[in-house]
Amino acid sequence: MLILAVESSCDETAVAVEEDGRRVLADKIASQADMHAVYGGVVPEIASRKHVEVISQLAEAALKEAGVSRRDLDAVAVTYAPGLIGAVLVGVNFAKSVAYALGLPLIPVHHVRGHIAANYIAFPELEPPFLALAISGGNTLIVDVKTYTDMEVIGATRDDAAGECFDKAARVLGLPYPGGAPMDALAKRGTAGTYDLPRAHVSGSAFDMSFSGLKTAVVNLAHNAAQAGKELDKASLALDFTNAVSEMLVPRAVAAAEKCGRDTIAAAGGVAANSIIRADLQRACAQHGLQLFVPPLSLCGDNAAMIGCQGYYEYLAGHRAETDLNAYATRDIALG
Ligand code: KG4
Repeated sequence: MLILAVESSCDETAVAVEEDGRRVLADKIASQADMHAVYGGVVPEIASRKHVEVISQLAEAALKEAGVSRRDLDAVAVTYAPGLIGAVLVGVNFAKSVAYALGLPLIPVHHVRGHIAANYIAFPELEPPFLALAISGGNTLIVDVKTYTDMEVIGATRDDAAGECFDKAARVLGLPYPGGAPMDALAKRGTAGTYDLPRAHVSGSAFDMSFSGLKTAVVNLAHNAAQAGKELDKASLALDFTNAVSEMLVPRAVAAAEKCGRDTIAAAGGVAANSIIRADLQRACAQHGLQLFVPPLSLCGDNAAMIGCQGYYEYLAGHRAETDLNAYATRDIALG
């Protein structure tokens, strides 16, 4: 089954051609990150307008790279939630038009379900059930993936997403947007234990997380140093910050896997590209006898192949949208 998949939930326009859930024939991505870097973060209206400009050409390029024609397609899958609403609407409307014009089924895909499905592309042997740690710029979720389409949220951030926290901390350290990768590189030159940063616990909830206090601590350190005319040890702050984020994520993911009776953890999302978090996950999973899957860096960030992959399983489960499909800025992953 050939699926044309569309993703436009943030600042990457992406179109992929994907076969039977696991084989990627083409995966085209037009990133706008450079445009938003000027402003230090994503400007929603600019993101929407850039999606509008490139999405059709990107679809043509994906079909060409895949070596298939429009008539070969069997379905269209699209991210319809969550994301920047204007940005998501562009992809939804484009996918709807393609499905309508070609008379194809339209499959709505939850963006974070797509991130988790990136693992199916990288690891053909991976099948549910497993525990997913989905950590991206807009979402931080611990999810029990019971089947390809039956999911339960075990824990979630109560405020900022982990990636958002990386981006804000990077900004006060003078690093470019998006800040996750530069923080990762900077942390390699740091000395652990230089800065004492908070690790939040959400009272009454073992698996929920909070990152806003950590973000504020880094902002305050930077401002206080600037006011006192002192130099910050930026590399050590990047390292201590990343260790704090990792300590909030990794033990919870392991404990959640054990609570749900899962023997496998799959990481997903842009923050899963972080070298310290990847190493901590590997160590913790080895200690607890858990199998770990972490997608290659190319599949951690936003892409449309992951949407096509999850779209295939949504299709098999009978999930379809009609031409009145709408876009949503937020949506529970359990609802699909
Ligand atoms: O999954 P993604 O591309 O977009 C969303 O769906 O949100 O994630 C983007 C986020 C950004 O916050 C970016 O700074 C972060 O992933 N990121 C990283 C790294 N690479 C990207 N965070 C930490 N370490 C990295 N190496």
